[in-house]
Amino acid sequence: MTWQPFYVGDGTPRDVDLGEPPPWRRFPRQSLHREFQPPPGLVEAVNAALALRRPLLLTGAPGSGKSTVIEQVAQELKLGRTLRWHITSRSTLTDALYHYDALGRIHAQRLEGGRGADAGADDIAPFVRLGPLGTALLPGERPRALLVDEIDKSDLDLPSDLLDVLERGEFEIPELARYREDVVHVREAAENTLAALEKGRVRCTVFPFLVLTSNGERDFPAAFLRRCVRYTMPQPTVATLHRVVAAHLRVDEAQAGAVDTLVTAFVERLEAGESLAVDQLLNAVHVLTAQEAPAEDDARSVLELILRGLTHA
Ligand SMILES: Nc1ncnc2c1ncn2[C@@H]1O[C@H](COP(=O)(O)OP(=O)(O)OP(=O)(O)O)[C@@H](O)[C@H]1O
Ligand SMILES: [Mg+2]
Repeated sequence: MTWQPFYVGDGTPRDVDLGEPPPWRRFPRQSLHREFQPPPGLVEAVNAALALRRPLLLTGAPGSGKSTVIEQVAQELKLGRTLRWHITSRSTLTDALYHYDALGRIHAQRLEGGRGADAGADDIAPFVRLGPLGTALLPGERPRALLVDEIDKSDLDLPSDLLDVLERGEFEIPELARYREDVVHVREAAENTLAALEKGRVRCTVFPFLVLTSNGERDFPAAFLRRCVRYTMPQPTVATLHRVVAAHLRVDEAQAGAVDTLVTAFVERLEAGESLAVDQLLNAVHVLTAQEAPAEDDARSVLELILRGLTHA
């Protein structure tokens, strides 16, 4: 027997209804600020970072909730929409501060010139856009929330370059500093709000709430570590996982026993040193409790598929 509610594998076209998606896979994506259950000690770490105006460095296993923490803090403290900077080995500090579209401006100048317009009338503002870090450093009443996600994937120098800007709390956009107008209105990251910059300077007035996340794939220099409040996401317990499941999914009484078995087995595997993510458990519970749930015999093989260890693909 196999579980084949949608795709059967016979090549015959048919109309299928995929049923409701798991709540965390609804699009446009919803914030998970209500569902997140902070592990012990995290609340204190967030508060220390807020009080000290320091970045919070979160390390922990994949799927331990590192990237979700900021959504809850930003909502609870009304810090506005979370700014996100996803780091790769190619990320540079300048990308996160601002982007200047020099080519776009040259094209626009050519077009204007062709129409016989005054060459001095060209405007730089549409070709400059602040990045997530640049936006987080804008002056304001309330701190902005900035997620610097997966900083351990960066080039070696990036963490120190980042902390250097954060220590100073300001930067300059040279293209605007040399521009003929003193004040230029440039677009912020994520939203189309305009910020007025004088002589190309961005000067922070309140330190943003920053969360840096790392899977611990590399170590950081002590000079970097001492400037952050650090917290390691702990291995979840049976009690935490029950709370997480209940926050995300409605489990009725008839299914409670099966979910209990799943949670206990999940924690046993974690304790045995296997690498598994919380969202794998959520996926397993969703499949088990969904309308198109596999019959008992099939359930075991489907759950095995979903709950495969993360040490290899
Ligand atoms: N404590 C928790 N409470 C509620 N949901 C959680 C918790 N921990 C993890 N999750 C759920 O698990 C999923 C994965 O979380 P998230 O993406 O934040 O993990 P991560 O640590 O950033 O993983 P990665 O290192 O792979 O980026 C999210 O959908 C989140 O809702
Ligand atoms: Mg993440």
